[in-house]
Amino acid sequence: MTAADAPPPAGPVHLLVEHAAELVTLAGPPGRGPRRGPAQAELGIIRDGAVAAGADGRIIAVGPTDTVRATTVLAPGAEVIDATGRAVLPGFVDPHTHLVFAGDRVDEFEQRLAGADYLAILAAGGGILRTVRATRAANLAGLSRRAHAALRAMLRHGTTTVEVKSGYGLTTAEELKLLRVVEGLRPSVNQTLVPTLLAAHAVPPEFADDPDGYVRVVCTETIPAVAGAGLARFCDVFCEHGVFSVAQSRRVLEAGLAHGLPPKLHAEQQSHTGGATLAAALRAVSADHLDHATEEDLARLAAAGTVAVFLPGAALMLREAHPAPARQAVAAGVPVAVATDFNPGTSPILSMPLIIGLACLRLGLSPAEALVAATINAAYAVGEGERAGSLELGKRADLVILDAPSYRYLPYCFGLNLVDTVVQRGRVVVRHGRLVSEPPSPSSWVMA
Ligand code: NIG
Ligand code: FE
Repeated sequence: MTAADAPPPAGPVHLLVEHAAELVTLAGPPGRGPRRGPAQAELGIIRDGAVAAGADGRIIAVGPTDTVRATTVLAPGAEVIDATGRAVLPGFVDPHTHLVFAGDRVDEFEQRLAGADYLAILAAGGGILRTVRATRAANLAGLSRRAHAALRAMLRHGTTTVEVKSGYGLTTAEELKLLRVVEGLRPSVNQTLVPTLLAAHAVPPEFADDPDGYVRVVCTETIPAVAGAGLARFCDVFCEHGVFSVAQSRRVLEAGLAHGLPPKLHAEQQSHTGGATLAAALRAVSADHLDHATEEDLARLAAAGTVAVFLPGAALMLREAHPAPARQAVAAGVPVAVATDFNPGTSPILSMPLIIGLACLRLGLSPAEALVAATINAAYAVGEGERAGSLELGKRADLVILDAPSYRYLPYCFGLNLVDTVVQRGRVVVRHGRLVSEPPSPSSWVMA
């Protein structure tokens, strides 16, 4: 490199990770958007790679170690991590979780294993409505403790950005309470949290005979209150037979749009309802689940630029007979993301490495496609694509160092947590698999 084409000198380096066997940058042209089709497998790997963070926790250099060393200076006391023999990747982005809830549903899990149906349990007042009762009875401190424990476990598994839905309150006050829990967690957790309003998650018991009445409340009270308080970035609906119809979902999502909350949608999860068509018509940021989506649905989502978020953990726990059409989505040019769907009913799973494994084993994605789905495309699915999801100049220095030489070991070592080190905004927050500052409390969300 000559002096003329050298990049402008960056500020001093506060954290440097160098000599990565495989630096998986996921870099692409700026503003290009989520990856689709053949680009779903493009990783931008640099051998013997390095990435450097500045004082503000953003990436100031990335490239071959020699180049990064030659073009940067270390600040006094800078942390230098030798990643020889290890793979370095962007932190995972989990674009669909129901993180804030009380209680659990371990007994329903057992009932479903014995043949009970998820939607029938809900129709009988259990399922989501059972978690609603427990969550309404819980206070902010109790809900925060549980959510915090789950976030710590997610961090140990490499997740640095988390979308969090409300949806177990189902009144304006209770939905505000859940979103305030998210707001309150921000100073004490390391991850970037992206809150989504899911007031239309189930019809609450008070409106059992008047679901349209509840939709009216959501549109005229809950959405304006939440948007006015700046507590959510997106609006979501559980569009499903026996829950919210396509027409009701449209009303909610249009009200959200009118109040500045772009749409997301739980669509085609347990049956085909037309939710994906609605998501495409409204140019939703994402359409999630899609277990029963058709080729026509996928073509519409591709044309709309909507990200398909597949949730293979929930599908596995619901024992869906057929894998969701993720391969068809890639072929149709739909950008594909994956998420845990962490919740007490369909997916008490919080590990993105596990989801990457399921994306390969159940959905038929290649390891490279699954990694794109868990990072850059997941970031776009939650409006963070220009700030997270890849190791590129100016983005948050959120990264993971594996106890393995290649990302390909993630799905291969299924069920093993290979995450050794996690860096969040340029600071080491997990070292050798342990949180740097672990509070003296139970590490499982079940006990917290
Ligand atoms: O994404 N499908 C609707 N919502 C969640 C499940 C929530 C629950 O069962 O508590 C899901 O699977
Ligand atoms: Fe969900």
